[in-house]
Amino acid sequence: MEVVTEMSGNKISVLLVGIGGYGNKYVEELLYHQDRSTFEIAGVVDINPERCSYVQELKDRSIPFYTDMASFYESSRADLAIISTPIQYHSEQVCLALSQGSHVLCEKPIAATVQDAQKMMEMQKKTGKFVAVGYNLSFNAQIQELKRHIAAGLFGRPKRMKTLVLWRRGLDYFGSGWKGRKKGANGEWILDSVVHNATSHFLHNMFYLIGPRPNESAKPVEVTAELYRANDIETFDTCALKVNTDQGVDIFFYASHTILGNAGPVFTLEFEKAVITFYEGKDDNKITAVFHDGTEKVYPSTNTSALADKLRTCIAAAATGADEIPCGLEAAYPQLLCVNAVMDAIPEVPGFEPHLVHHDEDTDAIWVESLEETLWLCYDKWQLPAQAGAKWAAEAKAVDLAGYRVFKG
Ligand SMILES: NC(=O)c1ccc[n+]([C@@H]2O[C@H](COP(=O)([O-])OP(=O)(O)OC[C@H]3O[C@@H](n4cnc5c(N)ncnc54)[C@H](O)[C@@H]3O)[C@@H](O)[C@H]2O)c1
Repeated sequence: MEVVTEMSGNKISVLLVGIGGYGNKYVEELLYHQDRSTFEIAGVVDINPERCSYVQELKDRSIPFYTDMASFYESSRADLAIISTPIQYHSEQVCLALSQGSHVLCEKPIAATVQDAQKMMEMQKKTGKFVAVGYNLSFNAQIQELKRHIAAGLFGRPKRMKTLVLWRRGLDYFGSGWKGRKKGANGEWILDSVVHNATSHFLHNMFYLIGPRPNESAKPVEVTAELYRANDIETFDTCALKVNTDQGVDIFFYASHTILGNAGPVFTLEFEKAVITFYEGKDDNKITAVFHDGTEKVYPSTNTSALADKLRTCIAAAATGADEIPCGLEAAYPQLLCVNAVMDAIPEVPGFEPHLVHHDEDTDAIWVESLEETLWLCYDKWQLPAQAGAKWAAEAKAVDLAGYRVFKG
């Protein structure tokens, strides 16, 4: 029996998959902020919906709840499925939604492995529906304008770029069941890490900004990595990467969850004719390009919510059937490719020397002595920690990405 919810007409129907955690924010945005004349919520799928703060509001609106997607699709349909579940479910859930005729907005990263992502790409091509990958910056007008100007050659050829993100995460974060894990209970890859979850946005953003076309990123050809672990996890909570792209651009990325002082993202993008900088939380979050002749071009922050940007774009695209969304599977793939390759290259992540690792009572977080200073130094010098002479650094490992198609683990 077809489930009839509160609307029809030209509104698109939306299925929400995963409404606890980050999914809470999608629910809040849809219930209270997005234009309700453009969509209806056709159903919710979550194995534990009570983690969502808006369960009662959803029930009051007679929105049906399910514990798996197949049950929803047995009796209903959706123009757009929004998937905010842990990484290990993305591939299967996105493929199922596509096969049932839904467009998809899937949270970042695409999936656990490159082979998962390839399956999603095949299914996407077969069905002709879109899959948007929820990288916040890629749906934002400030970044879109900058990307357009880079592609138009305003700053000349890209030369090198770097981003640093120091975001402390406490013990409760890693205790969530899947954060910092390699595999799930049934042996499925998760591969969650500092660069495959919270800070993935900013590695992706560098590839994305210099991609030659709107829904396209630069192609990485080699990655050199140092990975470190201070928390009791299976993957890593600090990384320093150097990626070379097919356009000959060197991309440096530094991220850690095991520091005391949060900072960034901060980035510097060097082009033939200008240097572009950004420091989150400073200078009204403007992105500033300074040309070599001293002139400036400023990209003001839009001050919009990332959730609102993503939803507005995907609801409109689902309504018109447009297949051009700002960030799809292909554009999001380079981040996943690099992360899989470095994990294959460094299967056993080194820990820090125990005397450097401390627990901070106030934040209930693990932090590593001198790490913050070292990563800032590396950022300043365009180097990896081993090259910069950090005493605790392990030798960096380089991986050729040509032909890398399967994460073996
Ligand atoms: N764009 C962003 O800024 C941003 C921020 C945070 C998280 N995320 C992404 O959102 C996704 C979820 O992360 P989280 O931290 O919210 O996770 P979480 O574990 O806190 O929440 C996941 C939700 O999915 C539900 N769930 C788990 N397995 C399910 C299944 N098989 N079917 C249906 N529901 C299931 C859980 O019950 C929970 O409600 C990840 O991909 C993460 O990277 C994105």
